[in-house]
Amino acid sequence: MFNRFSTKFCSLIVLGAVLVGAVPAHISARQVGDLQCNIDRVKVTGSVFQALQTTRSLTQQLQNDAAGTALLTTINQGLLGAEDGIADLVTALFAGQTAPESAVDQVGGGLTLAFDAASNITSADPAVTDSVNKLKNELLQASFAGDNVLDECH
Ligand SMILES: *[C@@H]1O[C@H](CO)[C@@H](O)[C@H](O)[C@H]1NC(C)=O
Repeated sequence: MFNRFSTKFCSLIVLGAVLVGAVPAHISARQVGDLQCNIDRVKVTGSVFQALQTTRSLTQQLQNDAAGTALLTTINQGLLGAEDGIADLVTALFAGQTAPESAVDQVGGGLTLAFDAASNITSADPAVTDSVNKLKNELLQASFAGDNVLDECH
């Protein structure tokens, strides 16, 4: 589990490095592809990363809430699925390939699952409500960027 997360985390870092220009010299501009497409890929990655951070906060806030904790398990499943898709997008990026539609679908499916589960969290605690709204917003941002990847990366 930890290794799996680390691998995905490294993928996120690698994609971040691409954005700031630390692209390996053997990858030409043409291979890296259209700029807008890459910006969208990085936006997905950044929003998913933020969603993971917010989920971690919620895990602490809801540690005594069994229903909330169960929903967080589903949210984490969704985010892991999204990360798998992102890892495929990163692989494609470095192979100089277009974003595979299956990977984009996987990102979207994971984000939808996480969003549905987040929507089901109920709490009277305003701090929890704030975190849930933050998480939902981050998931929506990731989803919009994911849609753009499909539109822009071909
Ligand atoms: C959210 O709640 C609805 C209504 O109870 C349920 O049908 C749905 O499966 C729940 N979704 C998740 C992801 O828990």
